[in-house]
Amino acid sequence: MKKITIAIDGFSSTGKSTVAKQLAKALGYVYVDSGAMYRAVTYYAMQNDIISNDSFNVEKLISELNEVKICFKYNDRLGFAEVYLNGINVEKEVRTLEVSQWVSKVAEISEVRKMLVRQQQQMGQEKGVVMDGRDIGTVVFPDAELKLFMTASAETRAKRRYKELLERNEKVSYEDVLSNVESRDLIDSTREDSPLIKADDAIEIDNSNLNLEEQFEKLYNLAQNAINHQ
Ligand code: CDP
Repeated sequence: MKKITIAIDGFSSTGKSTVAKQLAKALGYVYVDSGAMYRAVTYYAMQNDIISNDSFNVEKLISELNEVKICFKYNDRLGFAEVYLNGINVEKEVRTLEVSQWVSKVAEISEVRKMLVRQQQQMGQEKGVVMDGRDIGTVVFPDAELKLFMTASAETRAKRRYKELLERNEKVSYEDVLSNVESRDLIDSTREDSPLIKADDAIEIDNSNLNLEEQFEKLYNLAQNAINHQ
């Protein structure tokens, strides 16, 4: 059976990574969380005096980009690949609200995007990959056989993310999470380089009223259909 490329794009906290992981597992494909790579670059900037308090030294980040080495390593116990920054597992560190508050600013920088898109394309060279992000169906894999665009209302998404952060013992307020979701949506969809837009040939999935099982079933059927029709 020939393998395909599955690109999943959409706004923040639309459940892309949950369903991408489920699909990859069911199909025996590799899952790549492209957002984790932008988050790892942001975390690097926070650790290296590039981002501090309210200031962001963009030039310094660009000049240090060749020192930022990102990779994924599969964790058997968790059943997915975790993100590493310069050899250190930063899977937990990159998910904080603090990183979320800066990541879209980092993702606006063309030099950052160029570096990460190149790596993402290499990871998908052999197909058999499910990748989620903002520009996967438009820029990273414009020829992907299956493109999905996930949506849900901002409130639904903020509630999901708030619950996730509480489960990880982060002390955050729902209002802060909602305002972060809304401000990232705005920056991500209005930036100049590779804005978040639905590719013409992407299938839009509004999952506001779908539970995880229903969502998986719907997407798995779409994937099987795409595999059978290539
Ligand atoms: O998990 P969540 O949907 O909140 O975000 P993410 O997938 O971890 O991505 C974090 C941020 O990285 C996004 O808000 C974008 O600013 C940026 N990003 C991007 O620009 N392009 C991608 N392919 C993936 C993420």
